[in-house]
Order: sequence, then structure tokens, then C-alpha cells
Amino acid sequence: MTETLWRVDSADTTLLLTARNTTDVPSIVWFGDLLPENACKDSAMIAALTDLPLPMAKLDASVSLSLFPQRSSGIDCMPALKGHFDGRFFDHHLYRDSVELDDQEVRIVLKDTAAQLEVILQLALHRTTGVLSITTTLINHADSTYNVDWLASASMPLPGSYRECLHLHGRWGLEFQQQRTVISPGTLMLHSHRGRTSHERYPGVMVGAAGFNENTGDVMAANLAWSGSHASTIELLSDGRLCYQSGVSLDPGECRLESGESLQTPVCYFKRHTCGGLNQVSHALHQTMRAEILPAWTRTERPVHANSWEALYFNHDIDTLKSLIDAAAEVGAERFILDDGWFVARRSDNAGLGDWVVDSNIYPDGLHPVVEHVRSRGMQFGLWFEPEMINPDSDLYRDHPDWVLHLKPHATPLARNQLVLNLDLPQVFDYLYQHIAALVREYRIDYIKWDHNRDLIMAGDGVRSRLMQQTRACYCLMQKLTTEFTELEIESCSSGGARADWGVLSYTGRVWTSDSIDAIDRVQIQRGYSYFNPPEIMGAHVGHAEAHLTGREINIHTRAIVALQGQYGYEIDARKLDDDEKQTLLGYVSFYKANRSWLSSSRTWRLDSAVDNLVCSGLVSEDQCISWWFSVAQASLSQTVAGNMVLCGLNPAVDYQVRLASSNLHQLRTFSKKVPDWLTSGAVVNGAVLMTIGLSLPVMPAQSALLIEVKC
Ligand code: GLA
Repeated sequence: MTETLWRVDSADTTLLLTARNTTDVPSIVWFGDLLPENACKDSAMIAALTDLPLPMAKLDASVSLSLFPQRSSGIDCMPALKGHFDGRFFDHHLYRDSVELDDQEVRIVLKDTAAQLEVILQLALHRTTGVLSITTTLINHADSTYNVDWLASASMPLPGSYRECLHLHGRWGLEFQQQRTVISPGTLMLHSHRGRTSHERYPGVMVGAAGFNENTGDVMAANLAWSGSHASTIELLSDGRLCYQSGVSLDPGECRLESGESLQTPVCYFKRHTCGGLNQVSHALHQTMRAEILPAWTRTERPVHANSWEALYFNHDIDTLKSLIDAAAEVGAERFILDDGWFVARRSDNAGLGDWVVDSNIYPDGLHPVVEHVRSRGMQFGLWFEPEMINPDSDLYRDHPDWVLHLKPHATPLARNQLVLNLDLPQVFDYLYQHIAALVREYRIDYIKWDHNRDLIMAGDGVRSRLMQQTRACYCLMQKLTTEFTELEIESCSSGGARADWGVLSYTGRVWTSDSIDAIDRVQIQRGYSYFNPPEIMGAHVGHAEAHLTGREINIHTRAIVALQGQYGYEIDARKLDDDEKQTLLGYVSFYKANRSWLSSSRTWRLDSAVDNLVCSGLVSEDQCISWWFSVAQASLSQTVAGNMVLCGLNPAVDYQVRLASSNLHQLRTFSKKVPDWLTSGAVVNGAVLMTIGLSLPVMPAQSALLIEVKC
């Protein structure tokens, strides 16, 4: 028996792989805290420590849970690859051909010479953050067609102590809701078969030892960078081993590799922190995302948006728009986004999608008067598109009914009166590229709100599924546009937050997390989003006093404070604001502008709360000199007094000036006989004290919020 070890280190993490025999697929022995340099050089010792006992009534030899589980090995879990050559080689047997270790990367080549299949596993450990990325490539060297039913991006063994999973579920208008699930014997499956990331299930999880919370516990994140159908599983085997897998969820017959063809999966990212809880894991994810994934423009100061949607819906006219633009400029907006309703026949959501031509009935001189007005007020201009979609009531559909995804002979169900274009058809891709590029060029569009408002159902080319290709073609279209227009920024919107994964965020760089601008609903939506994504790529708008989606009345301070958790903006009819409201918003917007330079590299600290309905979090600058702390009462609190808010991530050796930064003290005073002294006078407090004793909060009635600034 020859044991082989491969080791990669980052600043805080060690990845240790092992294989018993020369042909075995490597397994992960350790992925977690950095191990001492000399700790595991002795491969015989590692072999002895990881030697598996052999229970009765199973195979006669023990089986490792490798990085590429295969049924032919006898392992009980779901295989990393399911496929066949017209029924042959339904069980493949890929053995290790080579392992190359190069700096931070490991490249493992597996081969099945009988089936003539090759698999390449590529692992890379991010040098500073310890985030591990894994992608898998399958190559068909045989003469015949190989049908792929499932190819995991990654198969990751989880520590045996892990028994809880935090995942994000939701629905339209209420995305990123946090759900804790106990991992029990069997399989936990989280998936979307709808051709988009979905409102229902985000393709990432936080898994850990029971009871992990924001600041304590052993937690691992797994996050699949993919915007189409996806599936993730966590299996607890009868021998106690745990396996996580995730990948693209393929339709039957969708992926056929002809001789010589290959399939490379999207990347799956992992990060483990053995004691620091969810916050530490999020920090590493956010840093990796900023350094490796997001477009460079996300690192510039994020402008204040004003979006026309909830102010106008489809009721566009130039004079109204001009007055809306003026009003938005008066409350500090720096970029005006003309939402849905500007193109031909688009007077409701029944018609027009696909005809990307400005409606000359409303805009006889094109969008020029509007764009010029926007620019004359010192703002950038953004425009809404929904490129992948088409209304049957459109010229494009009348001319090219065969351009839509469909499955003969059935009619595809409509959603929001629309169908989906087959982006993988070159003529469709070119049509969209030409039309969008022409508009970007003509109006020097700074920003596109790229929407995607329906699930993909029966998404075929008439016969075969095109789901995976659709997602890839969309990435290509975004890539092509941003390559030609290097300054162009794109936001990912999908009826709110149904496309908010790390796949699309390589091309976009901002997400509209929800169509609900109800600040109270947003508290949990934004918190859920923050597990995987940093604040500067979260569109967060001040909405109307009565939230359009929920009818809830929320005061202006709470709306503004919650919007300050992300890229601050407005989705409001600013013409209707009274002077007091304008002054209030001007206060918050200037506070945002004065601070946004550090927000884009800040650390997010979500705080655990023992008080029902109290949600607290903070954003701390990289140099720990300045931080913002948010406290929101989502509903009536379970106790009269909210208690102390204990801060995190500050420098314990530094004295900070603490002050209430929100301008709502007058409101808060009316709910108690007295507010804590520091709220009126401010205080100078040592970082260590703020992180142990904390700050006493005032009585907080339902739907109230506070913003506290802590500064060196
Ligand atoms: C989707 C988006 C909204 C808005 C509308 C326009 O619902 O999420 O923000 O852009 O489309 O039709």
C-alpha cells in the first residue's frame, strides 16, 4: 500500500489530499485551519489515522469517499458522474492517471480506458482567503456519443460532526429567507429545475456542526456559480460519512458528448472556518468575490440610483419623466434608470418584449430628450432590458415564431405573457447583440438593468432541451457587450432576486434582490443575501411610504436606514415628497456619499440576537477605523427593552467615537421615558468595551430602525 499526500496552503487554510493506491482517486483528508508546516509529512501516519474499519455486511474492502465518487468503487453515495453510451458503461471506473500540484492548484486526471472517458478535476485554493474552487471536466474519447445525466461540479466530503444546514429559500417578493435544516440520514436535496437560479433556492449552503451561529462554530460554505437549473445534495451515509455535491441539473438527453467533445462544469466554491461561525466564512467569500469574480467597476464608488419603475410603471411620457428626473436629482440621485415601458407597444406587460426599438409614439425624438435631461442634471443614464424574453404580441415573434424555446407539438405555458428566446441560435444572439449595442452606442448608456422575468419550461429547440446552453449563451451575450462597451455596468434582476448567483455576477456586479421594497421584508432579504455577497453589489432603494407589494406603511427613517445597507438609491415618486421628507433623505444620501468609499471593501458582521424580531448587523471598514451598525425592529420586540448591542470586528486597542447617525431620535424618544445617554450626547468608547459590554439600545417599537456610527 503506498500512501500519497498532496498539500496546498493559503494564509489560513490547509487542503490535504490523500490516496491509498497509485490508481485511487484522491480524497480530502483535511480542508480547514492551516496545519503546522511539518505536521503531516508522514504519509504512513496519515494512512494509519484515516484507515477505515470494515463493518459487517458490506464490501470486503473499505472504500474512500473520494473527490469523485463512483458506483463502481462500491461507495454508497450519489456518483459524481451519471451517464452512458446508449446503455453501455452505465458504471464507469475512472482511476487516477496523474496529479499535478502547481502553486495553489491541483490538477487531477482520471481515466477509464475501457469506456474511453477522461475526467479532470481542478482545485485551486485562494492564497489569501482560503476559498477553494473546484471545477470538473469530462472528455469523451470514444467513437460513440456519451449521454451525460449528471456531472457534479464538485463532490466534497463534509466533516462528520456536521449536522445542520443553513440554506436560502424564498418566493417572488421574499427572496433569501434563511432556513435551518437538520442533516439526518438520507439525502437533503436543494434544486431548481426552472432554468434560472430561482427565487425558491439559492445554489449555496452553509453547513456546520449543530448550533453554529454568526460568530461561533465550525461552518463550511459551498456555493455553485451557475445561473441555470442546479442541484445540490447533502447525503448522510449509514457509516456516518457526509457528502456534499452540486452541479448543473440537466434535462434528460440534454447533454450528449460526441466523440472528442468535453463538458466543463461551472465552479463550486468552498470555505471553512472551524470556530468563527458564519461571519468569518462570509468575509472570505466576499473578499474572494471582490478579488476574483466581480467586474472591476464594482470597486469604484457606487452611485445613487433613481429607478422609474414604481413611480411610473408603464405610464411613460416625456414631461412626467423630466419632472421625475428633476425630483430625483434634488434628493441626490446620480444615475437615473428608465425602467420597463420605453419600447414599441409596451404599454403593459402584454406586448413588445423582443422589439428593442424606442416607442416613437411616446418618444418622437427617441430617448434623446430624456437622456439629455438626465445628463443636464449631472446624472448617468441607465435603461431596462429583458433580452432573453419575447411577447407573442411583438413584431419579432410575428416574424420569427421559431426563435423561441419550445417543445413540439405542445404549447409552452406563458408566464407574464411571455416566452423565452433561444439564445443559443446564432441569429437570435446576433439580433439581440445588434439591437442592444446600437442603443448603448446611440444613448451612451451607462448601465443596463438586465431582467429575466420567467421560469424556463419546456425549454427546447423543438426536440431537445437547451437549458444549459441558454445560460451559457446569456453569459456570452453579457461578455460580448461589456467587452465592446468597457464602461457599461450591468445589474442582474430576475423578478427581483431570482438570478443572484456567482455565475452571473462575473458579468454583472449588482443584484436587484427583490421586487419588494418593503423595508421590513428587506431586512431578512438583505441579511440572507449577505451570506454570500458583499453590500456594495446589493441594490437597495428607498421605496414609497406605503410599500407597493405589501401595502405596509413604513416611516422614512426606517426605509432609508435599510437602504443604506447596500448601494443606496430610490424607487419612489420623488415629486411627491414634502420638504421635511426631502431634507431627511438629503441627510441620508449625503451620509452615504461621504462613506461609500470604504463600504466597497467593508466587512459585514451579522449579529445574533436573543430578542425576537430584533435584527442587528454592521459594516466595518477594512482599516477598522469606521463602522456603521444597524438595529431594526421587524415587528414588536419580545421584550420591553432591546438590551445591549455587542459589536464585532473593531480594534480593541482603539477609542471610538460613538454616535447615532440616523436622524430619528425625536421619534424614538416618544416610546420611552428616557433613552440611553449616549444616544443624545454621543460617547467615546474603547473598541474592546464595545465588543464585550456593547451599547444599550433604546426602546424600539415595531418597524423602527437605528443607524449608529462608530469612528476613530
Ligand atoms: C421585474 C423587475 C422590476 C421591474 C419590472 C418591469 O419585475 O423585477 O424591478 O423592472 O420587471 O417590468
